[in-house]
Amino acid sequence: MLGLLFIFYSFHILSVKSGLHSLLLFHIYLVGETPFPESQTLFMLDDIQIGYYNSKDNKFVHRGMNGLERTPDAIELELAPKLKLNHERMKNKVSYLRQILNHTNSFHVLQRAAGCQLQENDDVGIYLSKDAFNGEAGDVRYYNPQNDSLHTDWVWPEAMDNTWPGGVHIAYTWYHDLCIERLKTHLAKEKNRIFKKMKPRVRLLQKTLPDSGGAKVTCRATGFYPRHINLTLLRDGQSVSDHQITGGELLPNGDETYQMRKSLEVSAEELQHHHYTCTAEHLSLDNKLDISLDHEWDSVTTSIVPSVLIAAGLVCLAGVVAFIIWRRTHTGSQTSLQVNTDASGECARN
Ligand SMILES: *[C@@H]1O[C@H](CO)[C@@H](O)[C@H](O)[C@H]1NC(C)=O
Ligand SMILES: *[C@@H]1O[C@H](CO)[C@@H](O)[C@H](O)[C@H]1NC(C)=O
Ligand SMILES: *[C@@H]1O[C@H](CO)[C@@H](O)[C@H](O)[C@H]1NC(C)=O
Repeated sequence: MLGLLFIFYSFHILSVKSGLHSLLLFHIYLVGETPFPESQTLFMLDDIQIGYYNSKDNKFVHRGMNGLERTPDAIELELAPKLKLNHERMKNKVSYLRQILNHTNSFHVLQRAAGCQLQENDDVGIYLSKDAFNGEAGDVRYYNPQNDSLHTDWVWPEAMDNTWPGGVHIAYTWYHDLCIERLKTHLAKEKNRIFKKMKPRVRLLQKTLPDSGGAKVTCRATGFYPRHINLTLLRDGQSVSDHQITGGELLPNGDETYQMRKSLEVSAEELQHHHYTCTAEHLSLDNKLDISLDHEWDSVTTSIVPSVLIAAGLVCLAGVVAFIIWRRTHTGSQTSLQVNTDASGECARN
């Protein structure tokens, strides 16, 4: 599982710094009988899904807040043929790779993540593209506009139908017209979503542990955006050291906000003698938010989502990949795997 999520994770790292914006396309190409369209593409602006394409409908669909569609603009209308071409190339690459790697199974998946970055001061960052075949990370292309250098790292024997045009000059043109300019346009268009500030709702909850008589103290923050948050559990005003804390993963709520929780197990005695609090620091808050214990039971269970995933759209695409990888290793078995898609098997809605 971790191998196949690697491609998503590496791009998550790319865009995690605040003040740095990115436009990333996640392509997925499938071979074999599956409930999914042969190919799908997700458009991510920072960590927000702004568009979707699949080969079945062969059209770009813009995604607004809460998955609402809007009419594509002129440039977006031109995207479908370009994406179709890209998927044809991915198709060729799949048949090439399954041959040279001797993958005889009837299910295959090729993923590609590609995109560019822009700093808040308008400095352009790197362009990066990365492939993964059947869950294994592979070919990397890397263009650095600062010194106009192109770096390629071929993990597999180079395919005849190499999808990368090659020269630095072409890379530069592609990069600017198709990525940086689009990124700027999208940032202006989607500023209400990208630059929004949503305050975290923070609670400190305590749950008695019947076995030990101790308790689990949990600080939970939810509904915040952007995703950078400092959530700290304190014992008598001193922050509890990290190795005693469990949790701390950032989880998408699926509505363009995030949640995080941090927990600490304490004995009955500790609970009596110490005072536990929680603080949250977030861009949306003028001051630190200090929270004291709520004497309530925490009955809400968090849905389990791999913590490396940053947005619901990606969770869905990763679900599709997991499904294919699973089918590859369990061909013939009747059990079905739950994947978060709509009835037609598409990752269209979060
Ligand atoms: C694939 O099979 C061919 C023929 O059996 C063999 O020569 C080749 O080394 C194999 N390639 C890999 C990557 O295992
Ligand atoms: C360009 O810059 C990157 C990072 O600063 C460096 O790793 C790379 O070697 C440079 N390439 C050339 C051709 O100078
Ligand atoms: C979290 O803490 C670090 C280190 O003190 C600080 O640099 C950063 O700005 C804080 N983040 C937020 C969202 O307040």
